Amino acid sequence: MNAVVEALRRRPDHEAGTSAGSHAAARARLALLGTGTVGGAVLARLAGWRHSGFADGLSLVHVANSRYASSAAAGIDPSSARDLLAGSIQPAGLDAVPVALRGTGHRIVIDATASAEVAARHAEWLEQGIHVVTACKLARGTALADWQAVEDARTRGGSRYGDSATVGAGLPLLRSIRELRAGGDRIHAIAGVLSGSLAWLFNHYDGLRPFSGFVRRARDAGYTEPDPREDLSGEDVRRKLLILARAAGVGLEQEMVDVDSLVPDALAALVREDVDAALPQLDAPMRERYAQAYRNGEKLRFVARLERMDDDGWSAKVGLAELPPGHPLAGGAGTDNRVAIWSDRYREQPLLIQGPGAGAGVTAAGLLDDVLRIVHG
Ligand SMILES: NC(=O)c1ccc[n+]([C@@H]2O[C@H](COP(=O)([O-])OP(=O)(O)OC[C@H]3O[C@@H](n4cnc5c(N)ncnc54)[C@H](OP(=O)(O)O)[C@@H]3O)[C@@H](O)[C@H]2O)c1
Repeated sequence: MNAVVEALRRRPDHEAGTSAGSHAAARARLALLGTGTVGGAVLARLAGWRHSGFADGLSLVHVANSRYASSAAAGIDPSSARDLLAGSIQPAGLDAVPVALRGTGHRIVIDATASAEVAARHAEWLEQGIHVVTACKLARGTALADWQAVEDARTRGGSRYGDSATVGAGLPLLRSIRELRAGGDRIHAIAGVLSGSLAWLFNHYDGLRPFSGFVRRARDAGYTEPDPREDLSGEDVRRKLLILARAAGVGLEQEMVDVDSLVPDALAALVREDVDAALPQLDAPMRERYAQAYRNGEKLRFVARLERMDDDGWSAKVGLAELPPGHPLAGGAGTDNRVAIWSDRYREQPLLIQGPGAGAGVTAAGLLDDVLRIVHG
């Protein structure tokens, strides 16, 4: 058996503990990377906490987008952080992050980017004892070796990795799976609508108006990834299923997930700037698929499934499914994620977790929940 898989089987991957008590008196220093849809909502939530006491003990000392950064050891006012960046001449550079965080107390990076360059630094920061809290799936939801590098680094660094916002935008999905495992359960299967944007699309698409129009609305509302093909291709859901599977102790490689993309090859081949004009390529095939499901009294849902097979191997699939209206995954509204988990104790009836699974506000809340969990131990 591969060593990584063995390690996954042996221990529930609770975040590595660290002694919160030793940091209790010092302020936790935060670096926020990304000030777009999610990062902007993190700043707004921090600013809204000013008089509530939640922000006591937190100090934002570094903020950056892809172009500029701004650091201040005395702290940055979250409500003016974006203006500060707009006027900054300090170039963005990831080497500046540990320098800006230097000092006593917890050091925490909040990754609100979709950047592979930032994700590639997670392990390095964790190894230095810097906690990482992320909305970006790239470090945990891609190659198994990268997932393992994060695990090893947080163990060596005594640091913690907050990933609640990577799947379900902060819904208690990963936490529930880890708690079931910590309670001695084996996970048998997980099935879910894991993409808030695709949930929104298939909750709203009526087979009459063009599907491309719904995609644009979802993107403009901030529900989709910056490039909507990441959602429509199933890539984003594949990453989420990999993160859930690994939390369940199943060491899947990316290629082990069978993904049925909604993106035609011609659309997949375009550069990002040309995607919007080409979205109507989606319309005719989707109209056809919808009409077929409608005739059978079924609903279209984009579903991810992980299932233990009889030989103890695993089957992992992502794609559009036609579901009868009473199916546990057919319900929900808006951007709701809906996830069913079967384990030793939930054999016949699965544990069902449902709620909004996309959007800046809930994602930012999930990130800051992880920050507070680290700070309060
Ligand atoms: N939107 C949602 O509902 C949602 C839900 C769950 C998870 N997420 C995840 O949250 C992350 C951010 O999504 P978003 O919708 O907020 O994207 P976004 O609006 O495009 O914002 C991305 C931000 O990251 C910045 N950035 C890129 N590279 C950077 C670097 N090397 N250093 C510092 N900053 C960098 C960008 O800078 P510029 O401003 O200079 O371009 C921008 O401010 C993604 O990983 C996404 O998968 C989003």
